[in-house]
Amino acid sequence: MRSNIFYILSLLSVSSLAHAASNLICYYDSSSYSRQGLAKMRTTELDLALQFCTHLVYGYAGLKAGTHELFSLNVDLDMFYYKDITDLRQKYPQLKIFLSVGGDRDVDEAHPNKYIELLEANRTEQQNFIDSSMIVLKRNGFDGLDLAFQLPRNKPRKVHGSIGTYWKSFKKLFTGDFIVDPLAEQHKSQFTELVGNIKNAFRSANLMLSLTVLPNVNSTWYFDVPKLHPQFDYINLAAFDFHTPLRNPEEADFTAPIFFQDEQNRLPHLNVDFQINYWLQNHCPAQKLNLGIASYGRAWKLTKNSELSGLPIVHETCGAAPGGLQIASADGLLSWPEICAKLSQNASAPYRGENAPLRKVTDLNQKYGNYALRPADENGDYGVWLSFDDPDFAGIKAGYAKSKGLGGIAVFDLSYDDFRGLCTGQKFPIVRSIKYFMG
Ligand SMILES: *[C@@H]1O[C@H](CO)[C@@H](O)[C@H](O)[C@H]1NC(C)=O
Ligand SMILES: *[C@@H]1O[C@H](CO)[C@@H](O)[C@H](O)[C@H]1NC(C)=O
Ligand SMILES: *[C@@H]1O[C@H](CO)[C@@H](O)[C@H](O)[C@H]1NC(C)=O
Repeated sequence: MRSNIFYILSLLSVSSLAHAASNLICYYDSSSYSRQGLAKMRTTELDLALQFCTHLVYGYAGLKAGTHELFSLNVDLDMFYYKDITDLRQKYPQLKIFLSVGGDRDVDEAHPNKYIELLEANRTEQQNFIDSSMIVLKRNGFDGLDLAFQLPRNKPRKVHGSIGTYWKSFKKLFTGDFIVDPLAEQHKSQFTELVGNIKNAFRSANLMLSLTVLPNVNSTWYFDVPKLHPQFDYINLAAFDFHTPLRNPEEADFTAPIFFQDEQNRLPHLNVDFQINYWLQNHCPAQKLNLGIASYGRAWKLTKNSELSGLPIVHETCGAAPGGLQIASADGLLSWPEICAKLSQNASAPYRGENAPLRKVTDLNQKYGNYALRPADENGDYGVWLSFDDPDFAGIKAGYAKSKGLGGIAVFDLSYDDFRGLCTGQKFPIVRSIKYFMG
């Protein structure tokens, strides 16, 4: 593997750090249990990954609007599956098992602001959230709760018609930038206070607490880092989906670059390094931070007018390309096994058209990410530009996390890794690569 030399060098340069990255936080989206065919993932498939994971995060519970209670989004599944999952501890006694609330699975169109409403609620109402969480956690044997609150997101650089009307109601600044949340300062201190109260209740109940910062939730707005970090056992930064076909339908770019590429008017905060440094510079201990890596890619549809080179930023894209057949997502999401099946192994294969493979372009600098593409055909059809972290690049990110002295890596999520070994025969290649390069 090309990256080996890089790693031997970087291992030497960080060997003075006291701790190696050692946490591997594995998110498991339980809705994958309800998928069809090869994408369906159950405990039997999950089991093999758990020799690598230090923490398993079961996603996702919801927040009930009005009462502010934590509740199951899928009672039919959770009523037996919560227990099945926490019973895995018998086989893996060291494994810590968390329940995560929010995580973009808690879709409630009638109450898009309910997480903000929880922050604004009074102490008595917030106690409903705390009490209901503790009951669910204790009754089902979870070790702790992960707060993956769906707070308002950073606005994409360009705003297009496809962005929800939700954003449009917010005021514009003189600069033309949106104020996404005019009360962000207030919500920040309310979040700190809520977390303090949760932590107090959890401490006496011997429950753990973690924070997941969802993609494009702006830490500057919502997280008072110096006051927050002591309350959490660890903090996972979901530092990916900086660009997606839904947020940026007309231009494709790396979804999760490690570093800022100061070209073409890119924004300086839309990369891993900025996000990690933000927390570190605000005095969060590196050991508490875990870098989030997505095990899926995002595909844009290329048009006849998109540049042929594929070098990002790719202009004149047209929203999301069709997602994978198994995951069947509308927003251009493909799991790693779906991606590897599309990559070309054959130099003489056709270049365009519905059945042509995608050509992979490897980032030799190991800074921004790999991508793959298939230009549109004469009719403007079947063009795809796909940004993804494959096992190699996930390993590079694990090496980056180690060089920063971070606590570890968080994988989003196990169900998008190749849990059946369809790519090369090896199961969970992304998880394995991360584990290997974390050292
Ligand atoms: C908290 O808010 C609820 C609902 O708005 C209200 O009924 C209750 O009186 C409030 N409690 C306190 C202590 O302010
Ligand atoms: C939050 O957003 C502002 C403006 O959009 C940006 O300057 C800042 O760097 C962002 N903070 C983080 C942590 O991304
Ligand atoms: C490569 O693609 C060409 C053209 O589609 C096909 O004829 C050939 O059999 C393929 N070779 C392999 C090894 O799959």
